[in-house]
Amino acid sequence: MKKHSLAFETRAIHHGYNPHQHHGALNPPVHFSATYAFETVQQGAAAFAGEQPHYIYSRLGTPSQSILEQRLANLESAEAALACASGMGAITSTLWSLLEPGDEIIADHTLYGCTFSYLEHGLKKFGIAVRYIDLQNPHALDRAISDKTAVVYAETPANPNMRLIDIAAIAEITANRQARLVIDNTYCTPYLQRPLALGADVVVHSATKYLGGHGDLIAGFVAADTETIENIRTYGLKDMTGAVISALDIHLILRGLKTLPVRMDRHCDNARRIAEFLHQHPKIKRVYYPGLEDFPQHELARRQMRDTGGMLAFELNANREQSAAFVNAMELVLCAVSLGDCETLIQHPASMTHSTYTEEELAQHLISPNLLRLSAGLEAIDDILADIEQALEKVPG
Ligand SMILES: Cc1ncc(COP(=O)(O)O)c(C=O)c1O
Repeated sequence: MKKHSLAFETRAIHHGYNPHQHHGALNPPVHFSATYAFETVQQGAAAFAGEQPHYIYSRLGTPSQSILEQRLANLESAEAALACASGMGAITSTLWSLLEPGDEIIADHTLYGCTFSYLEHGLKKFGIAVRYIDLQNPHALDRAISDKTAVVYAETPANPNMRLIDIAAIAEITANRQARLVIDNTYCTPYLQRPLALGADVVVHSATKYLGGHGDLIAGFVAADTETIENIRTYGLKDMTGAVISALDIHLILRGLKTLPVRMDRHCDNARRIAEFLHQHPKIKRVYYPGLEDFPQHELARRQMRDTGGMLAFELNANREQSAAFVNAMELVLCAVSLGDCETLIQHPASMTHSTYTEEELAQHLISPNLLRLSAGLEAIDDILADIEQALEKVPG
């Protein structure tokens, strides 16, 4: 059977691994070994010089990591991938590798709190100019981009306000100006959206979320062309961040990937039902979910995403204290950060994931102080809706 004809669901289970080469074991072996022995000094020298393939030391990769990376690259339509210890490990290893002092990075207004903090307090400290613009508007990028712009960076949908970026439109502008477009695809996973196929140069992920899928690991990955990935591996990751994925997490992500499509379908269905429920509720001011017909970028979502995702955000007709009281009244739905788990999770970004922004920065970066973020889990939808309804009954008004 020709491998390239296999569907995503099949490749998520099989790609890059042949059980018959491993005693018939359905699951790839996990290598708990920090270092790899050479038969001779000459063999070691050839491995270090890149003249002979050989595993050297686990900070550079392991056999089970190679299987995971091949599978992730395949699912993201990339030439290569690099697994990392966390999403932040993937993002920092990538940007330390792609940027030089004197360069500029242009990012969208809305970013995950720690990414924003890294740009503000990490990159800026080392002589890299950071500019935030509204990447929803490609003309704004056209005006802002210059010869100094080495990277354009965006999340789509963005955490936490669900703003979408037209990847193909932005990619056209960055390609014309020799800048690299880096997209954080955490919210979608490659099952829902493949930025490289739309023209992006690099994709970064927090694998902690849907890819692992069970809230029991922290990991990340980068996908791009082979040269870029080898640069990030041997420079950004090996020498700068050291954000190396653990052997156990490699196993857990390979396990999570097998059920990713099934889980994502259910996450999307549950999120859609929750968004529709909230949308018609008198105590709700606004719902941000790409699957709603009145979502400003509903058409873009249909074009760019296979389905509209498991994440949503909303505001109550209530102040910050009352919104917090609503979250506190939840019984089944848990108040927790992270996302993409089996459990439905709700949190208040201004107090939690985006508390790295000051009050002024929240306003500048289009994050409403009353916004609540919800990650739709895999529970029965009627149970989730009943819990939201009983908590809403406790909100005055
Ligand atoms: C969109 C996005 N990118 C990156 C990260 C960072 O990932 P990690 O927590 O695995 O370091 C997160 C974490 O919440 C995220 O939501």
